[in-house]
Amino acid sequence: MQVLVTGAAGFIGSNAVDALLARGDRVRGVDAFLDYYPRAVKERNLRAARAHPAFEFVEADLVTAELAPLLDGVDAVLHFAAQAGVRASWGRDFRIYADVNVLGTQRLLEACTARRPRFVYSSSSSIYGDAPDLPTVETTLPRPVSPYGVTKLAGEHLCRLYAQSAGVPTVSLRYFTVYGPRQRPDMAFHRFVRSHLEGRAVTVYDDGLQTRDFTYVGDAVAANLLAIERGSAGSVYNVGGGSRVSVNDVLGMIGELTGRPVEVRREERQRGDVRDTHASTELARAELGWRPATALREGLAAEIEWLRGEIAAARA
Ligand SMILES: NC(=O)c1ccc[n+]([C@@H]2O[C@H](COP(=O)([O-])OP(=O)(O)OC[C@H]3O[C@@H](n4cnc5c(N)ncnc54)[C@H](O)[C@@H]3O)[C@@H](O)[C@H]2O)c1
Repeated sequence: MQVLVTGAAGFIGSNAVDALLARGDRVRGVDAFLDYYPRAVKERNLRAARAHPAFEFVEADLVTAELAPLLDGVDAVLHFAAQAGVRASWGRDFRIYADVNVLGTQRLLEACTARRPRFVYSSSSSIYGDAPDLPTVETTLPRPVSPYGVTKLAGEHLCRLYAQSAGVPTVSLRYFTVYGPRQRPDMAFHRFVRSHLEGRAVTVYDDGLQTRDFTYVGDAVAANLLAIERGSAGSVYNVGGGSRVSVNDVLGMIGELTGRPVEVRREERQRGDVRDTHASTELARAELGWRPATALREGLAAEIEWLRGEIAAARA
């Protein structure tokens, strides 16, 4: 299969590229290297793929580039490219979120109307906001509590619309807090583990009793591969790791895995942060045959190992 992966240099996208190459697909990766975090980090994410003969990389911006050539020969699109991050989406920078997450997605879908490849969109649990029911099912009324969540929901609606009206077989996956090797530097586990390994106190927003349904990146990638094969057009699936854990419990686990308790500095709750998330994954299990395979402890150990390597490489 020839697969176009957008956001190929990012956290989840680069893990997906490696998985596709490992199973023998041909991959065209596209990324604009947005400066939300350093290009050098993203270049490292791509290092193995760039050496692979079945990988082709195109540096391009989905908001401005001519997209038809990118889709040449493509059977499936995994659309990860986005301006991520809840907290930075307030205020002036909303323009970037609207451009990339809404306009970029619309342009890509429009370009797909000619060839109609399988199309998997990276949505987010943030579209739910503070969901009234846990575990949350896909039919819950979406009420995002951040501008980021609003743009991700708009992208999802565009996918459904292009499935209905233009026959592009889109599937949206709502990931719940993804973690693991290559996790973005602004995300909680990355910040916690890096600070702790570098001997600094860990900053925790709120009382640490907020809970998340943490999802290992390998499981999120597996959901994408299954969605290509089995997802029904225009549909939406939750992708959650299956264990709802408090931030304080995660800190305890990091202490155990590193053999040293984590020193914590508390700060106020941040605007746009939800209190609890927990996915119902019945639909993905039934229709995609997907289930989370990596326990939190195991996945966290893999992220710690990766960050140890990153810190050592930066010091060398
Ligand atoms: N990480 C999570 O926990 C999580 C949770 C829910 C949803 N998501 C979604 O998953 C996707 C991947 O997230 P991530 O954490 O890997 O983020 P990331 O920032 O690491 O990766 C996104 C990549 O897209 C690229 N990009 C952005 N705009 C682009 C454009 N206009 N043209 C080309 N490339 C562009 C960026 O340079 C970046 O490398 C995003 O759509 C995000 O909204 C992530």
